[in-house]
Amino acid sequence: MCGIVAYIGRKQAKPILLEGLKRLEYRGYDSAGIAILNGSIKVAKAVGRVSVLEELVDRQGGFEGSLGIAHTRWATHGGVTDRNAHPHCDDPKLGHGIALIHNGIIENYSVLKKYLEEKGHSFSSETDTEVLAHLIGELYRGDLEKAVQAALREVTGAYAIAVVCNKEPDVLVVARKGSPLMVGVGKDEYIVASDQSAIVAHTTQAFTLQDYTVAKLTRDSFQTNTVDNVPVTAEVRELEYDLGQIELGTFDHYMLKEIYEQPHALRMSMKGRIDLRAGQIVLGGVSTFARELARARRIVFVGQGTALHAGMVAEYVMEDLAKIPTDVDFASEFRYRNPMVEEGTVVVAISQSGETADTLAALQEAKQRGALALGLVNVVGSSISRETDAGIYLRVGPEIGVASTKAFLGQVAVATMLALFIGRRRFLSADYVRELLEAMHRIPDHIEKVLQQSDEIKKATAKYIDRENWLFLGRGYNYPVALEGALKLKEISYIHAEGMPAAEMKHGPIALIDNGMPVVFLATRNSQYEKVLSNIEEVRSRGGHVIAVATEGDESIRKHVQEVFWVPDVPEPLQPMLTVVPLQLLAYHAAVMRGKDVDKPRNLAKSVTVE
Ligand code: AGP
Ligand code: GLU
Repeated sequence: MCGIVAYIGRKQAKPILLEGLKRLEYRGYDSAGIAILNGSIKVAKAVGRVSVLEELVDRQGGFEGSLGIAHTRWATHGGVTDRNAHPHCDDPKLGHGIALIHNGIIENYSVLKKYLEEKGHSFSSETDTEVLAHLIGELYRGDLEKAVQAALREVTGAYAIAVVCNKEPDVLVVARKGSPLMVGVGKDEYIVASDQSAIVAHTTQAFTLQDYTVAKLTRDSFQTNTVDNVPVTAEVRELEYDLGQIELGTFDHYMLKEIYEQPHALRMSMKGRIDLRAGQIVLGGVSTFARELARARRIVFVGQGTALHAGMVAEYVMEDLAKIPTDVDFASEFRYRNPMVEEGTVVVAISQSGETADTLAALQEAKQRGALALGLVNVVGSSISRETDAGIYLRVGPEIGVASTKAFLGQVAVATMLALFIGRRRFLSADYVRELLEAMHRIPDHIEKVLQQSDEIKKATAKYIDRENWLFLGRGYNYPVALEGALKLKEISYIHAEGMPAAEMKHGPIALIDNGMPVVFLATRNSQYEKVLSNIEEVRSRGGHVIAVATEGDESIRKHVQEVFWVPDVPEPLQPMLTVVPLQLLAYHAAVMRGKDVDKPRNLAKSVTVE
């Protein structure tokens, strides 16, 4: 959801800002812009990638200066045009020379725009953001920090902003509510960004702005106050982030790198949490709530997209292993549904970024109603992780590819460990837990075997590359995996794909089956295997072409299908961590063969920090 970078210090701002934008481009990328303050405000902005902006800046020249702001946009209000790209400025008639960049939505921008137009303001864009820039200009009385505070008191919605003013060449003002913003503290310099990937190249000391906080930065000091000008303390901490983790290395795309990182990522996620000898799970992040979890009356997983699919696996594994009634819901539905949160309810937010607006809001709603709020989150210190009562970090490392892969694996793995942690405090025997833990400990090696089929998966995918409609079908634990496979394919190759329970196909979607239609089945040896075989025959008899994910050694399935990808045999609760891998590779190869931008698919953002 868009990227914000701002710099105030003693170095040239331009290269720092442009490099920072490139680090953040995965977050949202339909247009980009920059403003440098050096006696006057110099602005450049353009539709397209950061590289397009870089060429424009080089062509225009004159971007010297040590104070500046830069932005990659993911449009919410106003089309993808040069004019709507950020930065946005206040009304030039006022002569303050204010420039602003923004991540989020100003929900009451129409009312504010009408008020400003009645005061004679004229606007050059269709965006909500420009209204905020004009409002700050309208309220400016010689103190930028005060004008920003006054304007934000009038605003409803979500924002992370950075603001400069030509009349205050030694001041950078930043603020946040609902969208992430972090301030890197360097020597006589500050670099502000949406996330730490744009900061760590300059400093590992940083603080995260809390909601309703405004920071005023100069070249040698900063202060933080609320929008009501009440002082707040900024907690500067050491960033645990290794730039090497976000280098592409020898891979063509971050998504492929992260697919191949999964064995290592899973080992990191399990490290120190699985005690094979004792048959125990060690989850420090939730251990203080062990009794409350063991006595929970209901558990609700909430998330969006891939995180929701992980939550669906979590629902199965929690009821299977912990024997606690469990639900899963879209966070966006849960938050507005007036949800039932009775005594003994635990709500678990699942999120890679820890910044998804709907998931954060659902968690806040659950807490307000008395639930114990947990988080399964990847980004340390993210908004959701800070909102929880307790949580378990995925520890799979930074995920840059917009299409989530290793984070899904981490979410499923951590949810499975949580289910075992609770189940061992309820009805699971030490022997059964030890058996599952030993099987789980071998999953990374199994994933490495599955990854060796990449070429075969590519060849099989190539046969169907021009088919515009696919079905993904699975039962039980593999049903959420079918949904995840469909999402992967559609979000990076733009092929329409639909996932559903295999049995559901007969209730309508079977009408879609025509000659040669590709239908992917999760057909591993499990409690519903025979039923899945019947569904495969129903598809085959109508001309569909079946691509199956099956258990190694199950040679009998070959006569039922056109293509088969193999996964090692593991206990049913652990199968999703394996069956998802061929589908990730299928989607990846399909997107590459169709010439799509795998890491920055159209219209998408890595973290959706607006509703
Ligand atoms: C998954 O490939 C997508 N990028 C998207 O569905 C994502 O899973 C969703 O936006 C949730 O993001 P989060 O895990 O950061 O909350
Ligand atoms: N709502 C603003 C716009 O549409 C900001 C979008 C973003 O977060 O990039 O320009």
